[in-house]
Amino acid sequence: MSLTVPSLADEVAERGFTRLRPEAVRALIPAPDAALADFADSWSRLEMDGFMADGGTYRRRRLANFLAVPGEVPHRRGLHRPHFQASVHNKLNGGVDRWFAPVEDAVAGNPFCQGLLALGREVADGLHPGTTWFVEMHQFRVEAASNSPGLPTPEGVHHDGVDVVVIAMLARTNLQGGETLVTDDDGTELARFTLDGLLDLTILDDRRVMHGVTPVEPADGTRPSSRDVLVLTWKKRA
Ligand SMILES: [Fe+2]
Repeated sequence: MSLTVPSLADEVAERGFTRLRPEAVRALIPAPDAALADFADSWSRLEMDGFMADGGTYRRRRLANFLAVPGEVPHRRGLHRPHFQASVHNKLNGGVDRWFAPVEDAVAGNPFCQGLLALGREVADGLHPGTTWFVEMHQFRVEAASNSPGLPTPEGVHHDGVDVVVIAMLARTNLQGGETLVTDDDGTELARFTLDGLLDLTILDDRRVMHGVTPVEPADGTRPSSRDVLVLTWKKRA
């Protein structure tokens, strides 16, 4: 799948980030509702993040990696490997190889997954043409309980240490909080918004802007509460 969205790349080049609402994303990825329902439902099958240095058990996830080669349309899925962030990018959990459960094959092949990969790559290629990309896909579920808020970004406002990041909302279930912040390197706020609704997303130039998400709490403390998000990252292959 190849998407042509030069205006998105231009906007990211100009402002450091952009936001795309669900209607616009659906228009760019013409796949059936049933495929989107399958994609979103896969967030109910994530596994506990066992590498939380704060001991937190509020985050579930799965991980996949891909290679994007110039002139080749689909992303090539890579052998499963751990996720690594330098401590400078993640003071809480960086500096170690972190193994997470792999993204299910059918989920990686889902047309919405492939479409979102194509969308982010258009922006990454627009900013840095002709690049071979190492791409990571993270499925996250952050759970919140009445006495225990969930922290979508326990490391605070940060760079991921990559070139381009897509953050896409899958579901906010019985949730309050969870605002996305975009700042410059001095911490000056450039934008603050709540990604809401299926496939509400933001695309960030990670070299230029930082991002973070405020804590989440249940709207109704007697019912389960969660925030399901997809994060895709493109990093120039070393
Ligand atoms: Fe991040």
